[in-house]
Amino acid sequence: MQHESDNEVLFGSGDELLSNHCANTHINQVISGGLARRQVLAGGAALGTLAFLGAVLPSAVNAAEPASQGPAGFSFKRRSKLPFVPVAVTRADTISVPAGYRASPFIPWGTPLSGRYPAYLDDGSNSAQDQAEQLGMHHDGMHFFPIDAQQGHGRNSHHGLLVLNHEYIDAGLLHANGPTVVDGKRTSAEQVRKEINAHGVSVVEVCRGPRGEWTVLPSARNRRVTGATPMQISGPARGHVLLQTRYSPTGTATRGTLNNCSNGFTPWGTYLTCEENWAGYFASDDPSLPRELSRYGLRSSSRYGWESVAGDEFERFDATRTGASASDDYRNEPNHFGWIVEIDPFAPESQPIKRTALGRFAHEGLVFAPVKPGRPLVCYSGDDSQNEYIYKYVSRDKYRPGRSNGQLLDHGTLYVARFNADGSGEWLALDLQDASFQQACQTAGVSFADQGEVLINTRLAADVVGATKMDRPEWGAVNPDNGEVYFTLTNNSSRSETDAANPRPANAYGHIIRWREGSKHSAGRHFSWNLFLLAGPETDSVGPNGQPLSADNRLASPDGLWFDDEGRLWIQTDMSGSQLGSGPFGNNQMLVADPKSGELKRFLVGPLGAEITGITATPDFRTLFVNIQHPGEGSTASNLLSTWPDGPGKRPRSSTVVITRDDGRRLL
Ligand code: FEO
Ligand code: CA
Ligand code: CA
Repeated sequence: MQHESDNEVLFGSGDELLSNHCANTHINQVISGGLARRQVLAGGAALGTLAFLGAVLPSAVNAAEPASQGPAGFSFKRRSKLPFVPVAVTRADTISVPAGYRASPFIPWGTPLSGRYPAYLDDGSNSAQDQAEQLGMHHDGMHFFPIDAQQGHGRNSHHGLLVLNHEYIDAGLLHANGPTVVDGKRTSAEQVRKEINAHGVSVVEVCRGPRGEWTVLPSARNRRVTGATPMQISGPARGHVLLQTRYSPTGTATRGTLNNCSNGFTPWGTYLTCEENWAGYFASDDPSLPRELSRYGLRSSSRYGWESVAGDEFERFDATRTGASASDDYRNEPNHFGWIVEIDPFAPESQPIKRTALGRFAHEGLVFAPVKPGRPLVCYSGDDSQNEYIYKYVSRDKYRPGRSNGQLLDHGTLYVARFNADGSGEWLALDLQDASFQQACQTAGVSFADQGEVLINTRLAADVVGATKMDRPEWGAVNPDNGEVYFTLTNNSSRSETDAANPRPANAYGHIIRWREGSKHSAGRHFSWNLFLLAGPETDSVGPNGQPLSADNRLASPDGLWFDDEGRLWIQTDMSGSQLGSGPFGNNQMLVADPKSGELKRFLVGPLGAEITGITATPDFRTLFVNIQHPGEGSTASNLLSTWPDGPGKRPRSSTVVITRDDGRRLL
């Protein structure tokens, strides 16, 4: 996520402005129960008294039963699952990990990947075509596919495909001397083309040598998917009139994926990349915008000014109505973004597919409930903007190992979450066939022509049913021990009115919420929830053990989230601004929690200005891959704010790091 700006108009903040202005009632207004009121009144440090925080959730099959164990219900007698000495906070321009571990940079931005394998040039002089054959910029979500992932269990820990997102760019570092802008317009097609090519996804075939070192293999599978790669559109919105463009008058095809943040992966061995803050890539001069643009925060100027360069490949970023019909211009091009995109990393010639049944919003990532043969697939995705929502998708068809494919993501029901103050929750269907949805639309005076239009306007549909506005939902993760779903809510400076699930006004530090489905196979409409963690300094936080955080684990702005196969929760942070520069938290960090014991320890601290994001491991858990995004964020060629990973005088580069133990054993 981009945080600082070179220029207020171009290259401005990548965090989208608040665009949920709907009059959706906050939950504490509709529920007069004592708990909600107490939480509203409590605020700040007093939140440490919240009874439900850290409590054990009721079991899935007996969700109505009240939680019987408070924080004291945790067992502290079992052997620690976190046997390492926590790393201290620091503002060093390096990676810090516990004694006995090592972290080695791997595949930084610009690493030669395919085609002519062009070498990375530190002076920014690589061409746009070079960039299309090198690793993209600003690594984010990532997954390791064992090379046998599509043949049975996929247990190979030595050879696989590492697939990762490239969320955005620092134009000050991408070009030799930064971007050229004259009178607010971009003047170089070559520069803009390079910026588009630095976005997207990389597929990297990697192997592990005898000493545990990883290398990139020259392989026909190595691939860059960029902001310009041809793609298909599938699901209920395919062919919709609101998807018609000059490039695709039938509304069935598009070019590129942008602002790819977190990710998912399917049980059939494909990668899911998620389009997050895409609205800022477009501009429209139209005096009034249709709801499918305005509700997503489209503005009259774009973040990078791509639309100001002549040529169809750039004009598509101008959503102004200039032609006689939608197939004469790009008024609908922004409707081609905000989706989850499926990529088959093992089929380098295959076209990525935008799966519209999963909804259109600022998708952070996609995480699956435990996958069960003979049952529908269930997955979750958060909309990372202030006061937006958390969604769940349930496939219509059942999962059949060896037979199912991406079509499971084309037919299903999308739900949005309402978190009630009493710890219960409901999944509200966004489906024209659903009687409650029909009633809610009628009450709100909102109509949709068809389900495709509902999905293109997912945020509006969620407003209509009264979903709970959340504090910027980021990553989710599912506990393999019990199926509980955890989500980070990173922060929300605009929250003035609290509710049970978002209990702090102007939430500066963020928190982690979790829920357990009320139905055995996760497909039902009811769940139970509580708060796992309130992030912050010692004076304003509650850890998973019910106690304030300490020097060993204080954190803010939780973002990345991942469970390892032994049920430990890995938490990554994305602090920015003064919180990063002068707070008690040091540089961004990664921690590990054991939900069973309530332990939480800091495992890693990143270099200056970087966000820690993206995490995946080999099946043997002897290698952990983590991404370091935007070290020295906001640097220019003449003002390097970090020189990680290449050292003094070199431009900072986003990079994966390979984390191993010195003795070569499992990480934990
Ligand atoms: Fe791209 Fe929500 O972080
Ligand atoms: Ca993120
Ligand atoms: Ca973030």
